[in-house]
Amino acid sequence: MRKKVIAGNWKMNMLIEEGIKLAKDIKDNNESNNKDVEIILCPPSTLLKPIGDVIKDSDIKLGAQNVHFEDDGAYTGEISTNMLDDLGVDYVIIGHSERRQYFKETDEIVNKKIKKVLKSGMKAIFCLGESLEQRESDITFDIIKSQVIKGLKDINASDIENIIIAYEPIWAIGTGKTATDQEANEVISFIRSILKELYSDKVSESAIIQYGGSVKPDNANSLLNQSDIDGALVGGASLKANDFLGIINYNK
Ligand code: PGA
Repeated sequence: MRKKVIAGNWKMNMLIEEGIKLAKDIKDNNESNNKDVEIILCPPSTLLKPIGDVIKDSDIKLGAQNVHFEDDGAYTGEISTNMLDDLGVDYVIIGHSERRQYFKETDEIVNKKIKKVLKSGMKAIFCLGESLEQRESDITFDIIKSQVIKGLKDINASDIENIIIAYEPIWAIGTGKTATDQEANEVISFIRSILKELYSDKVSESAIIQYGGSVKPDNANSLLNQSDIDGALVGGASLKANDFLGIINYNK
């Protein structure tokens, strides 16, 4: 049985006080405690320390939204894996479509970052997904296959347990449009078939693959009960305690 993993990606939102309040509300009302659901909060870098302090005695994990692939040096504005590790970060989101689109992150950069995160002992949330144009041109599966192969280049089978894959169709992010349960499940099971080709049955069956894109309390139940969907990467709805709690306390 694969566990469910639900991560809140706060993106470029929240100041210290409101972030602390949000994390406390989630921690205090998380009924999924001790069940098979892992919760990850991914605040902006400025809040990693205060949010880490709020959740440190709980089962909730801390995630960062980005990292650089070099060890250290003259990279103004960037953050290294050592810096994140020093703050107690467990997971790093890599290759989010907003980073690919606005900051020109290529599959090659994504691959370097994933390898760096793994080497540093943290886990990666590896995001991928097709644009609306690609879906309408019927090339979704080609795009997904290429992103999986390039993103996981030179990564061993034994490392896949330290990677969560997040399937996030770009047209569903922040738009209120969700992929249907079947659309999301279909692409995620396709990703499993690529993992089987690249690695083995065992890797394909045990890999954690989330769906992301306008996940809300009212669509979480049906998405999270699909056969191949192992959780959610949540943007907008992770900024309100009640909405995020409605997702993490979904009906199994
Ligand atoms: P959304 O964002 O839930 O606001 O659509 C998801 C994401 O970008 O991870």
